[in-house]
Amino acid sequence: MQFFSCVFHNRIIQSAIMQKFIDKAVKTHRLEHSELLALLTDDSCDAAVCAAADQVRRQYVGNDVHLRGLIEFSNICRNNCLYCGIRKDNAKVRRYRLEPDELVETARKAAAIGFKTIVMQSGEDMYYTAARLCPVIEQIKKFGVAVTLSIGERPYADYKAFREAGADRYLMRIETTDKELYRRLDPDMDWQHRLDCLLMIRELGYELGSGIMVGLPNQTPESIADDLLFLQKLDVDMAGIGPFIPHPDTPLKDAGGGTLPLALKTMALMRLLLPDINIPATTAMESLHPRGRILALQAGANVVMPNVTEGEYRRLYELYPGKICVNDTPAHCRSCIGLKIASIGRGIAADCGFHKKAPRS
Ligand code: SAM
Ligand code: FES
Repeated sequence: MQFFSCVFHNRIIQSAIMQKFIDKAVKTHRLEHSELLALLTDDSCDAAVCAAADQVRRQYVGNDVHLRGLIEFSNICRNNCLYCGIRKDNAKVRRYRLEPDELVETARKAAAIGFKTIVMQSGEDMYYTAARLCPVIEQIKKFGVAVTLSIGERPYADYKAFREAGADRYLMRIETTDKELYRRLDPDMDWQHRLDCLLMIRELGYELGSGIMVGLPNQTPESIADDLLFLQKLDVDMAGIGPFIPHPDTPLKDAGGGTLPLALKTMALMRLLLPDINIPATTAMESLHPRGRILALQAGANVVMPNVTEGEYRRLYELYPGKICVNDTPAHCRSCIGLKIASIGRGIAADCGFHKKAPRS
């Protein structure tokens, strides 16, 4: 009996400590590494962290959700990231790329059904030189949308040319700040070079998006806490946090993968640290749970990126198994997510959703 009362007592103390950290984060948007680690490793505080992030999201960025139309325009990649379904050495992938005119036409249709941002994502496909991509960006900008690029590591001259052609934002996850883990998972790539690319992108005046995966093999809670502090220090305009989902045709096929609760809590902590940024409810979260994106919108997220790629390309851009909406049309996805967002009492933003920085203390 005394044993149970002791356990109960310890739990109450532990929960009071976690609440103290959460209250501090809500008020100051600062947490020490040890505090983040404590929150990340105590499952009993998951709901409280997510509720606090929901409150901070409402206070800083409001209730409207920004929709970004995602075009996956090439699954050709020169890299071999061990986790990624479209890695160069995956011979089972049927490769495709949209030609520039198809890409512009896909963006035109997405703008016509109301998307205010077009996200152009691909593997590192060097067919798309600056000379080929800049005219595409220029034409898409004429549809009155913001343009986000997510095409990986490029030379400075390319980033500059894309920016001058009108690209507004650039999204490139750092994936992990554990350099040893990065070296193992991203062979032939260099963590410092990826960071240098992010810094170039920032310097060129893009809105900077980055992020991480959680649940990578041998990733520790300590390194996730490092990741969160890194993204805070980098002062990103957007942070994408998604669970790693093992792909059967990759070297990591037998890895455990990330869980939705950990992805949600990590994302919620990101909201507490960077209260005014844009945070997407990631598609990978919905691949793990049918309400994954809605749960994310209720735990700090304020952005959704519905897929506006057309036809069979949706299926061929398979980073991980269980990708959602592969048989749907862009218009269907737009209306489906609209209904889901309305069902939780949230609206869809009418503007392009640029990051509005709140004064920081
Ligand atoms: N090539 C660009 C780049 O490197 O930024 C954009 C495409 S890349 C496939 C987009 C993101 O997908 C990666 O940054 C990674 O975080 C995520 N990703 C890749 N494989 C994944 C997997 N198996 N599970 C979850 N997310 C994955
Ligand atoms: Fe290049 Fe995944 S390995 S996009």
